[in-house]
Amino acid sequence: MAIKKVVENVFNVGVDHWDREVFDSLIPLPDGTSYNSYIVKGSEKVVLIDTVDVKKEHLLRKDLRALGIDRIDYIIANHAEQDHSGCIPAVLNMFPESKIVTNTKCKGMLIDLLHVKDNDFIVVEDGEEMSLGDKTLKFILTPWVHWPETMSTYLKEDKILFSCDFFGSHYATSDTFVVDEARTILDAKRYYAEIMMPFRKIVAKDIDKVNQYELSMIAPSHGPVYQNPKLIIDAYKEWVSDDVKNVVLLLYISMHGSTEKIAEHLIDSLISKGIEVKPFNVLTADIGQIAMAMVDACTVVLASPMVLAGAHPRMISIAHLANALRPKVKNAAIVGSYGWGGNMVEQLKSVIPNLKVNLFEPVLIKGLPRDDDYERLDKLAEEIAAKHAEDCNL
Ligand code: FEO
Repeated sequence: MAIKKVVENVFNVGVDHWDREVFDSLIPLPDGTSYNSYIVKGSEKVVLIDTVDVKKEHLLRKDLRALGIDRIDYIIANHAEQDHSGCIPAVLNMFPESKIVTNTKCKGMLIDLLHVKDNDFIVVEDGEEMSLGDKTLKFILTPWVHWPETMSTYLKEDKILFSCDFFGSHYATSDTFVVDEARTILDAKRYYAEIMMPFRKIVAKDIDKVNQYELSMIAPSHGPVYQNPKLIIDAYKEWVSDDVKNVVLLLYISMHGSTEKIAEHLIDSLISKGIEVKPFNVLTADIGQIAMAMVDACTVVLASPMVLAGAHPRMISIAHLANALRPKVKNAAIVGSYGWGGNMVEQLKSVIPNLKVNLFEPVLIKGLPRDDDYERLDKLAEEIAAKHAEDCNL
């Protein structure tokens, strides 16, 4: 991408990956993504903070050349994952005198992932500072956003926090800074849901840790730079809190229409009781949208037909994902239709041990729902509404 000036002597030389469609062979990228990589020019030393995915090495080289960079003294590695570290070997190749600056844990991971040599590193401790002449970097360990080795780098004189994945968003944009705050928060929420949410208790501590510094900007390694750091910090504080909203996430799949009728009836019944419903057909839904809905839903409903003596495999897969993402959801319900039998309830319960939820009485319906079945669904909706009144302080 074109070089993006952040402030005097600080530039984003990273890359927008406009057409990347999926991350980790799992996460859909409706807006592509970006790998931000920052040059900080001090009066004595020049550093590169994080690099880019190896697929875009040629564009990083191009930007470094275009900016006239003829030396990089230090490569700061905030995170070992390859979308940021992948071009470290290339940068070392371009500037053989460079040293990689990172924490002990990240060093070990970079050696394993990239086969970088041990003597290419300078290891820093939490809170350690490094002078670049007229600029000073401070290294702040922020573990589990979203790997154990993650750290942030604070540029003291300009009050910029380079947070890598922390506060980021998968969003390829020609803008240097946040322009549309509402859109950015949605992208950031999706990103939080997909990779940060499982660690929200630790993320809460990391937020407090970086928030003690005066911040003029947060410059993540995905998405635009925040000139209003409070915007994303306040959003993160809400997401990691224990507060839930009066929302039911209804995940359903149907084979011959019976479970679809169950889902449709339950949606209407919940809405009539003042509950916001976010329904997704798990056959086709974007799992990023599902993950976002998990961030603050009070209840999740799994609606599946019984097949092969258990829940539909697509539902098992999405329940497994929910279990791994560990949302703060407080209640769960299992509903569905069956033809002759199976053990869907115990099977699904066994897939979600990480969800510390109140489980409502399941509603399993033989074949196409009848009037008394719809009444059972209405009763479930009433129970959900009553529980939401407690859990959501309505
Ligand atoms: Fe953007 Fe965890 O890498």
